[in-house]
Amino acid sequence: MESKPQFHPDKLPKHLAIIMDGNGRWAKQKGMLRIIGHENGTKSVRTTVEACAEIGIEHLTLYAFSTENWNRPKTEVNTLMKLLVKSLKKEIKTLQDNNIKLMAIGNINELPKNAHKELLEVIDKTKSNTHMILTLALSYGSREELINAVKAISSNVKNNIISIDSIDESIINNHLYTQNLPDVDLLIRTSGEQRISNFLLWQIAYAELYFTDILWPDFQKEDLHKALKCYEQRERRFGKTSEQLSK
Ligand code: IPE
Ligand code: IPE
Ligand code: MG
Repeated sequence: MESKPQFHPDKLPKHLAIIMDGNGRWAKQKGMLRIIGHENGTKSVRTTVEACAEIGIEHLTLYAFSTENWNRPKTEVNTLMKLLVKSLKKEIKTLQDNNIKLMAIGNINELPKNAHKELLEVIDKTKSNTHMILTLALSYGSREELINAVKAISSNVKNNIISIDSIDESIINNHLYTQNLPDVDLLIRTSGEQRISNFLLWQIAYAELYFTDILWPDFQKEDLHKALKCYEQRERRFGKTSEQLSK
């Protein structure tokens, strides 16, 4: 029988973000087309979403498509967009069954029309769900997000809506796509790469980082549990000393 690991609620990340990487290599290792890797990656998405909801993670953010990914071969981009539409249609049930609200961050206007429409529909249909917030980063780039924020804040200063002196962390937060989300507590990247690839640069300022060699299509519930167990052991000092924290 499957044993359910227990996680201390105080030691559970409130916001978990994942860079789902390694679909292409997974397929290549098996002598298959990259798209087969992406298709199998969607299975890991479902497993992870359900497992996070089961454990009680409040916010899960998944990096699904970066601004840089537009530079991939056209055929791969097209098939990824088709896969997005297919997954949204299929997984709406998973979201409803688990009381999960879908959100998106990124320049989603860049998505093909049908993908954009399907995304907005699922966001609308799940908007009253309360158990977990699942955010998909689509056509997302952290630098683009920061540039947009700087432009919007500068315009507010220019129009005397705010003063330069009033600019603080909360004003910057409020101009990011993630304005309604808390900071990331734990960032997982699969596939052995140890880089951030333009993901949530501001929001991960104090996140714990966890890298695993497992390729995304192989990522199972147990791998998530392992990452969460590792996170439980971390001492998050936020600049203080260990002694201060134990007081
Ligand atoms: C992650 O897998 C999925 C996307 C970036 C869309 P990759 O497609 O990057 O897989 P690798 O890194 O080439 O193995
Ligand atoms: C990051 O993976 C983007 C997503 C997982 C969606 P990439 O595979 O695109 O990143 P790099 O190119 O290895 O940095
Ligand atoms: Mg990759």
